[in-house]
Amino acid sequence: MVKAFGFVAYGGPEQQQFLDRPLPEPGPGGLRIEVRAAGVNPADWKKREGWFGTVAEPPLVMGSEAAGVVTAVGEDADGFAVGDEVFGIAPAGAFAEQTLLAARATARKPATIGFDQAAALPVAAATAYDALQQLQLHSGELLLIVGIAGGVGTAATQIARARGITVLGTAGASSADHVRALGATPVRYGEGVTDRLREAAPDGVDAVLDLVGGTAVRDVAGALRRPGRLVSTADRATVEELGGAYVKRDGTAAVLTALADLVADGTLDAHISARYPLEHAAEAIAAVESGHARGKLILEMNRP
Ligand SMILES: NC(=O)c1ccc[n+]([C@@H]2O[C@H](COP(=O)([O-])OP(=O)(O)OC[C@H]3O[C@@H](n4cnc5c(N)ncnc54)[C@H](OP(=O)(O)O)[C@@H]3O)[C@@H](O)[C@H]2O)c1
Repeated sequence: MVKAFGFVAYGGPEQQQFLDRPLPEPGPGGLRIEVRAAGVNPADWKKREGWFGTVAEPPLVMGSEAAGVVTAVGEDADGFAVGDEVFGIAPAGAFAEQTLLAARATARKPATIGFDQAAALPVAAATAYDALQQLQLHSGELLLIVGIAGGVGTAATQIARARGITVLGTAGASSADHVRALGATPVRYGEGVTDRLREAAPDGVDAVLDLVGGTAVRDVAGALRRPGRLVSTADRATVEELGGAYVKRDGTAAVLTALADLVADGTLDAHISARYPLEHAAEAIAAVESGHARGKLILEMNRP
């Protein structure tokens, strides 16, 4: 049996518990990995609460991004072998000692980067990468990131800075130093944010990447020089009302490989602010659910 953490009914954190699952067998095109690290994301608690539908029958294993070592290779999962160090999206859940990945959406982990850094890439960093592609930003442009201090914003800032883009971002007062360390200018969110943004960017901004939605993006969308150059990962209804678009995910191994290369060459760092053993999964999920996690939170398991 495999130890995992998940939920037994849709609802709040009280539905979460440890689960004993049978060792999963990879089907055609699938891989099984021994999970070494898994990233924690807002999607974990949103799924538990039924934001993405309630069709799948609990108990369900939580977590959706994992890095680990291949322990079994399914039919037609070409190019992978037992012992390979890989990372990717884990549709069957990542908070488990062993899980399954789809070979076509799995990338190899460079030997020079840790399992923890690799596990932080498939959701937050890949979403940041996709959103920046969608905004079609060029060197010298000015980007505003709403909610810059979390997982997606921390990755987006580093990728954008490496492309010569200047970055401003809304964050709480306690996140200002983190934002500056990324090479961006923090603008404190909350009452008065429109004025503070006007002071920081008197001529407006070229594009907005929204990671929060609602009032947080409405309050700053007026700063856009060209209305509509706005992509959100958090709130489809509001961004479409403002003339922007929801993020389009690529989901291929090519993006994951590009991101791993950026980590390997020192351009990108997940800024892991906390690590937890699998036994403390509930604590890690609660920290993300608070809405104020900084950078990435990681669960670690099967440490050699
Ligand atoms: N569609 C997709 O494929 C996809 C993929 C990834 C993520 N997402 C979504 O994108 C959003 C961001 O994800 P994430 O992983 O970056 O989340 P996260 O790491 O949990 O974000 C936490 C950050 O949000 C900041 N924040 C909270 N309220 C804010 C406000 N009103 N204004 C500005 N900043 C605020 C916090 O800053 P302070 O601590 O300073 O308050 C904290 O640093 C989530 O809604 C997530 O579900 C979607």
